[in-house]
Amino acid sequence: MNRKGLSKHQVSERLKEFQKRDLKYSSGRILGSMCTCAHPVAKEAYHDFLESNLGDPGLFEGTKALEDEVISMLGEILGKKDVCGHMITGGTEANLMAMRAARNQARQEKSIKNGEIIAPKSAHFSFKKAADILNLELKEAELDENYCMDLNSVKELISPNTVAIVGVAGTTELGKIDPIADLSELCLEKDIYLHVDAAFGGFLIPFLRDIGYKFPEFDFGLQGVCSITIDPHKMGLAPIPSGCILFREEKYLDLMSIDTPYLTEKQQSTIVGTRTGASAAATWAIMKYMGWEGYAKLAKNSMEITDFLARGLLKQGFELVSPPELNIVAFNSSKISAHELASRLDKMGWAVSVSSCPPAIRIVLMPHIRREHMVEFLDDLKNIE
Ligand SMILES: Cc1ncc(COP(=O)(O)O)c(C=O)c1O
Repeated sequence: MNRKGLSKHQVSERLKEFQKRDLKYSSGRILGSMCTCAHPVAKEAYHDFLESNLGDPGLFEGTKALEDEVISMLGEILGKKDVCGHMITGGTEANLMAMRAARNQARQEKSIKNGEIIAPKSAHFSFKKAADILNLELKEAELDENYCMDLNSVKELISPNTVAIVGVAGTTELGKIDPIADLSELCLEKDIYLHVDAAFGGFLIPFLRDIGYKFPEFDFGLQGVCSITIDPHKMGLAPIPSGCILFREEKYLDLMSIDTPYLTEKQQSTIVGTRTGASAAATWAIMKYMGWEGYAKLAKNSMEITDFLARGLLKQGFELVSPPELNIVAFNSSKISAHELASRLDKMGWAVSVSSCPPAIRIVLMPHIRREHMVEFLDDLKNIE
């Protein structure tokens, strides 16, 4: 470390050098990420609340009220206004909290010691982390021909040690929506905790449905759903880190509560202690600014570009893994492998990702991607083959 401090100018110049090495969303070249440019309204609010700590909410009552309003707005989007929960770092932490609540409930109410969770093969890898951290066994359910969780496979995996079943509304690789209504019935019948990971789909499905797109039910409207993950830092245009975990009932938070003797709150149910209030302020600001109509427009726009890309790919002879249901397109060439294609695209400056199940080039049409970027991308693809 330097002994003498640098000037503000020197620090800023050095930072710019580092930042030059980063890719920019605005270039339209980041095609495999579920994050995007935060909206300026959200950035400003984030900056204004940088110092507030939701880990000690009695000191920041205004920020805590913002968090409560965000939880209630998100609950409203997802079928139940009077939910409870927290703003946290993102989908990984939200899924970890949900699995912790489920494990603790099963431990307390059913004396299950070696708990198991059932999630589809398409679930985000955060469930592997959660299983590892919480000492749970993860059992992966097979997918059906449409890459959604296969109900029969779930039924076969249920055992006396099952503490939770996970369904995904907007899978990471293909944007698929699992049969949550069936899972809800099954979980009510078997008295099993049901968690829905809508980290990606949560900010899309309700708004798209509102303007006529057809989607299966997936939210708190289904009585079996105990918790939902939703990430404002994905399609919500909030800055990273802005994630959210919602629980149907307060009792799930109580199941995780730990005494916090020296703080302004008596108990804490989150995993982290010190917790930024800036995400709550930024999410509140952008949700108020966008409103239902703003998010519906944003989602529709992303779906239109998705459709444009999918048609363009088909016209050029590529094969789609399946017709896109959300703003994710996964495709393959009949001539070269997905990994080879990804590496050639990378050399041309396109940051695509390759899905694993099945291997395919995966493009997420986030709000930073415009039609002209896709025209250029399709042109470049012509030159590759
Ligand atoms: C469905 C789903 N769940 C969870 C996550 C993890 O979210 P994060 O990276 O914000 O922790 C992702 C990330 O892409 C996701 O797509």
